[in-house]
Amino acid sequence: MITKVLFGTPFMTEAVMQPVKQVETLRYFTAEKKEDQLCFVCPLEPDEVVYGLGETTGAMNKRGGRYISFNTDTADHSDDNPSLYASHNLLVLEKRGFCIFFDTPARAVFEIDYRKSGQIRVTCSEHVAVYQVEAATAYEAVREFLAVVGPAYLPPRWAFGYGQSRYGYECEKDFRQVMECHQNAGIPLDYICMDIDYMDGYRDFTVDTEKFPNLKKFAAELLDRGIRLVPIVDAGIKVDPGERVYEEGVKNGCFCTNVEGGLFRGGVWPGMTHFPDFLDPKARRWFGLQYRFYTDQGIEGFWNDMNEPALFYTEYTKGPKRMEQILNFIFPRLRRNARDRAAIRDYRYIFHQVDGKRICHYDVHNIYGGNMIRATSEGLSELLDHRYLVFGRSSYIGAGRYGGVWTGDNTSCWEHILLNMRHMASLNMCGFLYCGADTGGFMGNCTRELLLRWLAVSAFTPLMRNHSSKGTRAQEAYRFGDPEAFRSILMLRYRLLPYIYSEYMKAALRSDLYIKPLAFEYPEDQRVKNMEDQLLVGQSIMIAPIVTKGATQRTVYLPEDMTMVRYDGQNFSCTPCSKGEHTVEVPLSHAVFFIRSGKLLPVGKAVTNSRDVTVDDLQLLGDGDTYELYWDDGMTRDCTLNNIRLLKK
Ligand code: GLC
Repeated sequence: MITKVLFGTPFMTEAVMQPVKQVETLRYFTAEKKEDQLCFVCPLEPDEVVYGLGETTGAMNKRGGRYISFNTDTADHSDDNPSLYASHNLLVLEKRGFCIFFDTPARAVFEIDYRKSGQIRVTCSEHVAVYQVEAATAYEAVREFLAVVGPAYLPPRWAFGYGQSRYGYECEKDFRQVMECHQNAGIPLDYICMDIDYMDGYRDFTVDTEKFPNLKKFAAELLDRGIRLVPIVDAGIKVDPGERVYEEGVKNGCFCTNVEGGLFRGGVWPGMTHFPDFLDPKARRWFGLQYRFYTDQGIEGFWNDMNEPALFYTEYTKGPKRMEQILNFIFPRLRRNARDRAAIRDYRYIFHQVDGKRICHYDVHNIYGGNMIRATSEGLSELLDHRYLVFGRSSYIGAGRYGGVWTGDNTSCWEHILLNMRHMASLNMCGFLYCGADTGGFMGNCTRELLLRWLAVSAFTPLMRNHSSKGTRAQEAYRFGDPEAFRSILMLRYRLLPYIYSEYMKAALRSDLYIKPLAFEYPEDQRVKNMEDQLLVGQSIMIAPIVTKGATQRTVYLPEDMTMVRYDGQNFSCTPCSKGEHTVEVPLSHAVFFIRSGKLLPVGKAVTNSRDVTVDDLQLLGDGDTYELYWDDGMTRDCTLNNIRLLKK
């Protein structure tokens, strides 16, 4: 059962779409006023697992950590960084079948078994709507929560293909080379992302015509070979008198204002920019319809970036002072803190217009990014008559209805494969079904081994994109010699596409999760409570990948009898395995995963592009009897459960 308790006059974030019964009392939590904040406290038993908080660092079990909901542009994804790009204020108390969502767009602090042992402490604005769900199990509670948040975003089928990206691709030649190198090596590919260098002076809704003399023709040439272009669109619009988008935004009052009532200016990639007021429906629509610039050229996929919004400097704070700069250079952690502090100060100088009232950005900061995704998605749904790809960096619960998310600037290191897995499960609980990390890592230098192991994980995540930064070692799948192993892992993805697509669509249409922790299906099994390197993907599969450098085998725990599946690049071989521990050998070119007891897994033919995936001749693995296959043309908006057909063994 889901209920809500209102404190003060909560801001309407529109996170929850369905009506929820209002009650007076909280379950498990007590609330106490501390000046203009509320402090919610709940005692925890020693062995209780607390899931949730979507995109936060550290383990999936959030115990022992302090997390701050305050969307931040940060490349530090280490365990002790309290804030990443998004704020997802949901806690799931696994043992009690209980989840609680603190719906406030303002800063919130979650201390879970941190300030005081055995206690959850949430400190946030005194104006907050608290949603609570009580159910028989945590899995049921989360599903009930997702049902009121609203249906998850439905991407087109090609968005489940493999994407290649790099901050550094500049011109037609670079993109053609990426396409050709993949295709010549027989490595599957569906899209290539265009980072900011495609633009004219980093201005959104422009293209550098020296680098792309005829983008429409170029996009068509690539699409002819099955490859789509997916440009980046950043939040800020360059302050640029005379330029159409800028002038229109100013004229229509679509930008955020400053303390004095003029337009707020913040420095990002293009230099000084104005930030569209994504909290204002009029500005959202104006921004969304700008995408016509791309759709007119046949482009139908986008990533939204810098939408926390990221601020490099402003005229108010102008970044750190000289002495601070020197110290920051010596101590990188200070640098991060200084930049964050400057941005936080600046957020107090930005203003929105909401229902005719002027609202300080600082108080609604966490819903800005999600509303950019919404603007993009709503614009595209007006411009196109079929599905489109949208994913963004910063988000809040509810934005998962409009698009997906990627987890930002991670690093080419082993811990971040595990972080990727944790994020996928936690993000799913918060309604972000379409998600993924920069496979191979954004910062730092990737290695062949790291990329292969990482691909073997992201082969199961809805968004599967290899992305890296300028100045790092190139990490396209064809860069490391001997492409055979890469072909094998990526081919697995494409052979699983009927399943991945089908499971995703069913989960989205049924308010279910696509990826979940084992404890959601095996709540009685104490051994899986803290298991974070094994996950359930859809209804049939459990993954247990290798996430350690140098390892060629690992221990896998099966909570029930399962079928072990090994893919060697050519064939699937199946071995029945009994409940319990197993040591599994996984050479770099193989992928091993498990089919749950009584389930079937459909696998398709080996193809190198999503348009060639068919479901006429699926092979059915596993010991189940039937499989519910969701299948449509991959583009239609008419996505209903009527598109399910039953496959029988
Ligand atoms: C940000 C994004 C990254 C992108 C870069 C340049 O750091 O997170 O993905 O490549 O900006 O646009």
